[in-house]
Amino acid sequence: MKKSWLAIVVAIGVLMAFGATQGISSQGYDGESLVSARCSQCHGLGRVEAAKKVKDRAAWEQTVNRMMSKKADLLNEEERQAVLDFLVQK
Ligand code: HEC
Repeated sequence: MKKSWLAIVVAIGVLMAFGATQGISSQGYDGESLVSARCSQCHGLGRVEAAKKVKDRAAWEQTVNRMMSKKADLLNEEERQAVLDFLVQK
């Protein structure tokens, strides 16, 4: 009995830690997964990684808006915010 409680507590801890490192935003959108799924359709993610080192939020807004103008249904507004939140993380 004691052991199964411990297993549950450990499982919850792992789940919470996992959620935190995945960067799931408060709206439930995961910016990191969105970037790997949507932003690799036309070019590699290397381009995103390189730009992540130098761009601030204003620069990313311009870039993401430009990417969205290339593909109309790339991101909805909530997804755009989650992607921006992820991209400005250092
Ligand atoms: C429809 C195709 C397409 C999609 C989808 C796309 N890109 Fe791009 N991206 C391009 C093209 C074409 C270029 C080169 C021309 C340019 O810079 O506009 C580019 C260039 C870039 C650059 C380098 C230029 C700069 O301003 O630093 C970055 C960074 C970038 N994309 C990020 C992203 C991100 C982040 C996403 C996802 C939100 C994304 N791209 C999705 C087509 C796309």
